[in-house]
Amino acid sequence: MARLVIVSNRVASPKERAAKAGGLAVALREALSQRGGLWFGWSGETEVNPPDAPKVFRSGRVTYALLNLDPEDQRAHYAGYANGTLWPLCHYRLGLLSFRKADWEGYRRVNEHFARALMPLLKPDDILWVHDYHFIPLAAELRKLGFGGRIGYFHHIPWPTPEVYLSLPSHAALVDDLSHYDLVGLQTENDVRALLTYISSEIRGWIAPGGTVGLKDRRFRVAAYPIGIDADAFVSDAQKSVGKDEERRLNESLAGRMLAVGVDRLDYSKGLPGKFAAFGELLRSYPEHRSKVTMMQVAPLSRSEVAEYQALRRELEELGGAINGEFAEFDWVPLRYLNRPFQRATLAAIYRRARVGVVTPLRDGMNLVAKEYVAAQDPENPGVLVLSRFAGAADELKGSLLVNPYDIEGMAAAMDRALTMPLAERQERWRSNMETVETNTIHHWCQRFIDELTRIGDTFGETSDPRAGARPL
Ligand code: ADP
Ligand code: F6P
Repeated sequence: MARLVIVSNRVASPKERAAKAGGLAVALREALSQRGGLWFGWSGETEVNPPDAPKVFRSGRVTYALLNLDPEDQRAHYAGYANGTLWPLCHYRLGLLSFRKADWEGYRRVNEHFARALMPLLKPDDILWVHDYHFIPLAAELRKLGFGGRIGYFHHIPWPTPEVYLSLPSHAALVDDLSHYDLVGLQTENDVRALLTYISSEIRGWIAPGGTVGLKDRRFRVAAYPIGIDADAFVSDAQKSVGKDEERRLNESLAGRMLAVGVDRLDYSKGLPGKFAAFGELLRSYPEHRSKVTMMQVAPLSRSEVAEYQALRRELEELGGAINGEFAEFDWVPLRYLNRPFQRATLAAIYRRARVGVVTPLRDGMNLVAKEYVAAQDPENPGVLVLSRFAGAADELKGSLLVNPYDIEGMAAAMDRALTMPLAERQERWRSNMETVETNTIHHWCQRFIDELTRIGDTFGETSDPRAGARPL
């Protein structure tokens, strides 16, 4: 079996506590620890003139190789181009997009640096799987250095429609970079359609039957691989929480009230101000819920070095304070707002206790919290998921109450419906959601992508001309 090499910006190092690492890194750790392989990524540290040699160490079946970055390059790469340009672009927030040539150059320098450092560690038959928008140019850089093996890329965030994508000055260069991969995975069919439409209508690429794309002299495949969660682990953590100290403390603090829960990084894509406003609207327009329901919003701080994230934090503190100021009673605080991370077991206990899961991003690649909420429910008495139609998960979780996160009154009405929904309907909706969550797990997702990437070289061999039978979209 060929060795699997994973590249991602964040690496869940074995020394780190799971809660700090973030969902993606923890999921990848799961995948790699089963199969073994090499995990290459940023060390989290910066130094002036960093060497090309990463720090290498082994833990179990996984070899970790972690690279230091130059401080200015790291800023231009992460806070600059990745999170100041690509993140707002892919989440349809053009008003927040900044494009600076210096950031674009820094982004490319970090990708070159990663390629130079990774190349000596590679064997020709390795399978490389690169994750997320921080590393779109990595395959092109590795090809320049002579790596001819299979390389796949997975984009964890949405791919925007051509009208939006064209706002990026470097739009053509970035998709040219993508074409150096053998397989490009996106979260949903909508994302695939958006990318293929751009390729065929804006840069004269060709889409052959079966999803093979031809661009210049290169061929690659684009397909949807909706990411899943470790459903068994969430079910088991949620079950184990019953009767434990944390569950008891949570129940005591709620004093018999219903709980609505939100768990999101503090990020402007997550629609948190709209969610707060919708909860305020619920208490205003459906006064029967006052003193009967508590909302808990867990929002760990994220990307605090980016100005928009600092502004969002201030906005939420103000909005949250205003809701509590308007509605709180001496024995009831409507909104609990927490900026701290939790262990998975604690999150599972909170999800399970919540009658409503409120997941209302303005845009989201998938949204794993939605799936975690479903997995953690008690089948006999499940809660209801209120889910934004603009989360990738909305394609799969049809048992949710789908909402438009721009419609505050609509979201308040959905929360009211969830809080008053009869048990039989809750069970039916939950079963439909749970079937998907159990079927398309993180393990299936990894296996599907790796199997496809393993097969792909052979498939390309079958067609000598990418345009054979090709069609413009
Ligand atoms: P994103 O990748 O944009 O942050 P997702 O919903 O897809 O959004 O994934 C978020 C992951 O981070 C989930 O696995 C969730 O459990 C985890 N997470 C979110 N908030 C916390 C928290 N406060 N403590 C620990 N883990 C958290
Ligand atoms: O889903 C996008 C993503 O970048 C993930 O890769 C990561 O787990 C999460 O957002 C957190 O972002 P960051 O690594 O910037 O803290």
